[in-house]
Amino acid sequence: MARIGVTGMGTMGAALALNIADNGFDVAVHNRSPGKTRAVVDDAGALAERLEPSESLEDFVASLMPPRAVLIMVNAGGPVDAVIEALVPLLEAGDLIIDAGNANFNDTRRRAKAIEAARLRFLGVGVSGGEEGARYGPSIMVGGTPEAYASIRDIIEAIAAKFEGDACADFLGPDGAGHFVKTVHNGIEYADMQLIAEAYGLLRADGRDMAQMAALFGQWNAGALQSYLIEITSEILNTKDGETDKPIVDVILDQAGQKGTGRWTVIEALKMGQSATAIESAVAARSWSALRETRAAAEFAFPLGAGVASVSEADMEAALLAARIITYGQGMALLAAASDEFDWSLDLARIAEIWRAGCIIRSSLLDDISSAIREELPHGQLILAPAFSDRLKETVPALRRVVTSAMSEGQSVPAMAASLSFFDTLRRARGTTDLIQAQRDFFGRHGFKRLDRDGEGFHGPWAD
Ligand code: 6PG
Repeated sequence: MARIGVTGMGTMGAALALNIADNGFDVAVHNRSPGKTRAVVDDAGALAERLEPSESLEDFVASLMPPRAVLIMVNAGGPVDAVIEALVPLLEAGDLIIDAGNANFNDTRRRAKAIEAARLRFLGVGVSGGEEGARYGPSIMVGGTPEAYASIRDIIEAIAAKFEGDACADFLGPDGAGHFVKTVHNGIEYADMQLIAEAYGLLRADGRDMAQMAALFGQWNAGALQSYLIEITSEILNTKDGETDKPIVDVILDQAGQKGTGRWTVIEALKMGQSATAIESAVAARSWSALRETRAAAEFAFPLGAGVASVSEADMEAALLAARIITYGQGMALLAAASDEFDWSLDLARIAEIWRAGCIIRSSLLDDISSAIREELPHGQLILAPAFSDRLKETVPALRRVVTSAMSEGQSVPAMAASLSFFDTLRRARGTTDLIQAQRDFFGRHGFKRLDRDGEGFHGPWAD
């Protein structure tokens, strides 16, 4: 009998099951269509002896040691509800259901309540690292109850990525906390990918060929920008299409997919009165990318000028670093806001630590971010932490040069521009919303506070 079972033998589910088996645990495996389960077992080599396949959900549950732990890895949304609905009658009080997909944390909160009402236990778990991570060591963000986590903690820590021996997995908070943190991870991922794509666009327009850009990203990956996303960008730019021998990016349609996590990050930010503008602009850029025919028509209507932004490689590197710091800062502020809103007591420093390896946004910056958070962020802002404000003082001028040069030549840099605007707005002790308040009062008698007096609800002379 197995201590844990995985249902959903898609790419991620199969990889996780093999990872669990590889770490010495017997694992029950199941898929709605049994052919997939058989294929996973057939391809598992020596690990097959640790896999216990079942064709029906009933047999799958029966092959688990009580109290049972069932990990679901199916598409987010309806499919998760369908599996839970089928599982619940087969389980007994105290058994554990783990949703390890990219769930919307609102669904996780709802499911946690319903499953706990059925006297079962539930964990909503974010798993990052793609297929490779799932197979050899992902970053794992757990939400639910500490007791439920304790029952499978040894398995989770064994399969997780390690950063200098520390497992990149932890219990983060109740109900939807794990999936919320994973959602924000993905929001940051969207922004970081967009920033990199903007840099690629500017370098390319400025005449760099693929080999030069690949070398440059490779060089950056050895410096302050070291990260998985920079590393794979270098590799991608060095890759040719097998059929045409063209650079692979030249045969790929410029329309980005999105499954929802980036959008959810923005929606939840706005619901909490927060705004993660670098992430918002990255989500927007993906949505705009879908308007391919419109873009072609608009390029015809508004022909591009001949000029291109001329940006030094050193400026581009510094600009990416500045924008990345600002993006992480926005993501962390969002996590802090959610922690207050939902009473989760999120340990932001620990979250940065479990992102140091295994996940898609892993980067050398995260170790410094966790140290800065442990020392406490002034006003909750990463950009004000001494280690980061010093870096921003050095790098923001380059971000400004890159953004102004791109904008003056009509090149699109929404995420870089959003990062810079956030920075420039936040560093003004006195902004321009005095006028907004006056306008609100003028047309709606909304009232304002005065700088020279305590109290609120003051009105301008137009009220008469
Ligand atoms: C990860 C990835 C992973 C997946 C996202 C991508 O952390 O391993 O984020 O979760 O690649 O679903 O999302 P989009 O399809 O929305 O880009």
